[in-house]
Amino acid sequence: MQKRDELYRGKAKTVFLTDEADKLVLYFRNDTSAFDGEKIEQLERKGEVNNKFNHFIMQKLEAAGIKTQVESLLSDTECVVKKLNMIPVECVVRNIAAGSMVRRLGVEEGLVLDPPTFEFFLKNDALHDPMVNDYHITAFGWATQEQIDEMKRLTFAVNDVLKPLFEKGGMLLVDYKLEFGLCNGELILGDEFTPDGCRLWDKETRKKLDKDRFRQGLGSVVESYIEVAKRIGLDL
Ligand code: C5P
Repeated sequence: MQKRDELYRGKAKTVFLTDEADKLVLYFRNDTSAFDGEKIEQLERKGEVNNKFNHFIMQKLEAAGIKTQVESLLSDTECVVKKLNMIPVECVVRNIAAGSMVRRLGVEEGLVLDPPTFEFFLKNDALHDPMVNDYHITAFGWATQEQIDEMKRLTFAVNDVLKPLFEKGGMLLVDYKLEFGLCNGELILGDEFTPDGCRLWDKETRKKLDKDRFRQGLGSVVESYIEVAKRIGLDL
């Protein structure tokens, strides 16, 4: 498989075409962004750490019967993925209140959500990723109700696999964001699952081990990602 032209450059990843029409290459850069791209920094090794972390998690999900975009690692910072038609919404499940939920609803950070909540956000930096619901998604033709139901089912299925995985490593999976796409009419988990797109706290100390370290200027960002990886059995 040969890497070809750049197809799309996101805030932290670049997508390349390949000589195979149904395959793409995801290149994980060291760029780290927050606040809709307002804060951007280069963090040494982050591309490599996230690429390998994502591959490890996606393999766990595949083993649990959840179809993902990931095919194989291509290099330290690149992986080969199936080409998907991405649905332009983000699916967020929260086990514990944090981040925008705390700001929006005035609840206390750390409140356990029973049952966990589900939210859709429109992927649109210029509009600051507004929250949308099923009606917006069907009315604007971003997905069918059947696809919406399947995105919800799969996002919660990911919780069933990853909550215990992180728990075994002494961590709480606070929340996470997933994106899905279509391949031959089938809904498949795309994008990434890394500490850039989820919140993880140490179970005992509640120390933040995810991208909130970058957002809040707490330091040791990549070091924390490496520690998370180690605690779930991935040595980086
Ligand atoms: O900011 P908020 O609390 O809504 O984020 C919920 C979860 O989704 C967090 O884990 C955050 O890292 C992730 N997220 C993301 N990309 C976004 C928005 C949120 O990965 N554009």
